[in-house]
Amino acid sequence: MTTAEIQERILKLKKEKDFCILVHAYQSHEIMEIADYTGDSYGLSLQAAKAPQKNIIMCGVRFMAQVVKTLSPEKKVFLANGNAGCPMAEQLTREDVIRMKEQYPDYAVCAYINTTSELKTACDVIVTSSSAVDILKDYPAKKILFIPDCNLGRWVEKQLPEKEFKFFSGGCPTHMRVRKEDVLKAKEEHPEAEFLVHPECLEEVVDLADYVGSTTGIMAYAKKSDKKKFIIGTEASIVQHLQYECPDKKFYLVSEALFCHNMRMTTLMDVLNTLEGTGGDEIIMSEELIKDSLKPIKVMMGEN
Ligand code: 13P
Ligand code: SF4
Repeated sequence: MTTAEIQERILKLKKEKDFCILVHAYQSHEIMEIADYTGDSYGLSLQAAKAPQKNIIMCGVRFMAQVVKTLSPEKKVFLANGNAGCPMAEQLTREDVIRMKEQYPDYAVCAYINTTSELKTACDVIVTSSSAVDILKDYPAKKILFIPDCNLGRWVEKQLPEKEFKFFSGGCPTHMRVRKEDVLKAKEEHPEAEFLVHPECLEEVVDLADYVGSTTGIMAYAKKSDKKKFIIGTEASIVQHLQYECPDKKFYLVSEALFCHNMRMTTLMDVLNTLEGTGGDEIIMSEELIKDSLKPIKVMMGEN
């Protein structure tokens, strides 16, 4: 089958079988084309709760599908490729968090959404890259233990000087590969370009940015801007999507190392196999795990 034939079959089947397809911004262009919704981690969470269909396919990584299941427990939720996990989500366990809470009893635990559902049950509030500052600004606790991404945490800390933060030394292995030297070299090659970066990058990289934001934030900024050239400091797929959507502008990837193998694992055939019942990984969670991991997610969604 050609790509167009696979896409046609997916679109037909998803309608017939009442499926909603949620796609993270790091997926390929051909997967974006069959999506009901594309966006960043926060947008996908909001959409998960709103989707009218009975079944959902997540094209992204495992923690995203778990959040969807938690927000829509009555629906059948599938991760299109069951091997796609986020390495950052495995950096800490629930037991590690419980030990940290014993060490810092007067700190509220704020976890990045890139964590397992089990870990979320030991947390007070969940944030995403696009929602962290707004949520923690209004959050009643002054002392925040921010896990696992210390780079995102430090970027949030700079914007909330009234809070006291403690960090764990974790982070995204993809974004952490970008170095200050990569940025300086790209800026030298493209002196008129603006540098747009994801807050999962190292502090020394984020400090050189003209704009810092989530995947959706970076795309929206570049599309709206009057500028014509941009150096992109997030997963390489965003350069491809932006180049396609803004053919009159130029986008340069800051480092070839910005490639997330997990996010690139999912194929159109995985989506088709999931719809045909021969593939995909159904997310199964106990009622207790759903109830307990929902609590800090609801704080993020302003529903606590
Ligand atoms: P956002 O979707 O919040 O931009 O995060 C990027 C990411 O690395 C997701 O795994
Ligand atoms: Fe995880 Fe980083 Fe890949 Fe996102 S880009 S899925 S945070 S490893």
